[in-house]
Amino acid sequence: MRHLLDTEDLSRDHAVQILDTAQEMSAVGEREVKKLPALRGRTVVNLFFEDSTRTRISFEAAAKRLSADVINFTAKGSSVSKGESLKDTAQTLEAMSADAVVIRHWASGAPARLANSGWIDAAVINAGDGTHAHPTQALLDAFTMRSHWSKLSGIPSVGADLKGMRIIIAGDVLHSRVARSNVWLLRTLGAHVTLVAPPTLLPVGVEHWPCKVSYDLDATLEAGVDAIMMLRVQAERMKASFFPSTREYARRWGFDDARLATLDRLNLKDTIIMHPGPMNRGLEISSAAADSVRSTVLAQVRNGVSVRMAVLYLLLAGEIRDPQPNSKQNP
Ligand code: CP
Repeated sequence: MRHLLDTEDLSRDHAVQILDTAQEMSAVGEREVKKLPALRGRTVVNLFFEDSTRTRISFEAAAKRLSADVINFTAKGSSVSKGESLKDTAQTLEAMSADAVVIRHWASGAPARLANSGWIDAAVINAGDGTHAHPTQALLDAFTMRSHWSKLSGIPSVGADLKGMRIIIAGDVLHSRVARSNVWLLRTLGAHVTLVAPPTLLPVGVEHWPCKVSYDLDATLEAGVDAIMMLRVQAERMKASFFPSTREYARRWGFDDARLATLDRLNLKDTIIMHPGPMNRGLEISSAAADSVRSTVLAQVRNGVSVRMAVLYLLLAGEIRDPQPNSKQNP
């Protein structure tokens, strides 16, 4: 594997290898070893054409913890504003000896274009492209679920994957690269995913995704859930006609205080509440839910560093193994 572009084409073997390596990386952090020499002499370029807090900073932290040099590029304030193309921008940065390019772009498909064009030799890592994919977010979400449930006593071990776990992904699915990447990865790891959204915020063709689809958050919760992942309402990508009123959205599709109480009423004591961030508090998630003991929002951010260390290490140190010929790609 040379690049990480999406989870749809990520084999189970590679996904588990990344999650297991992230586990080792997080153990390094717990022992308070601040740096590993693994990528000394390598250069990681963060190429961000869209805003980011978590992804950009955690890729930078991950690269530095592996002793790589880091170049941060944001489109704002760069020669992109003078019309410089993606090709010229990427080649300019590679001329500064980039070994990996971590790219976030507003256009779906930009990372794949960079990886498959022959413009550069560096490994390409998709840090979120348009409404298409955000593979490292999905990997850190899976890592967070795996860590949470494997720490619990009294439940069967989830082992290397998430077999049989019931996961709801709710909200603005239409614009969510996080939802797409999670659906594919969670399917590969054996979980059962239900998407819940207003009809206007579901993409065309969603019936062909490997998951169930519902418009009814309460009914889906009542059926039982191990993790509920709330999605950000992406107002910046939205036409007014897509969106029910804010009040209606919060009432029918927001994870509010009443739905938080539902988890207690159903005695779902190990169910976690996730959100990739940034959150619209009071819209898709209430503050009580976001700050509750069930919330993994900050654990997700913390785990993002370990997962991105694993991805950089496996791609740049050339350690990622191709699956054995007789291994199962997908369940
Ligand atoms: N979850 C996520 O991608 O957050 P940022 O946009 O802050 O990177």
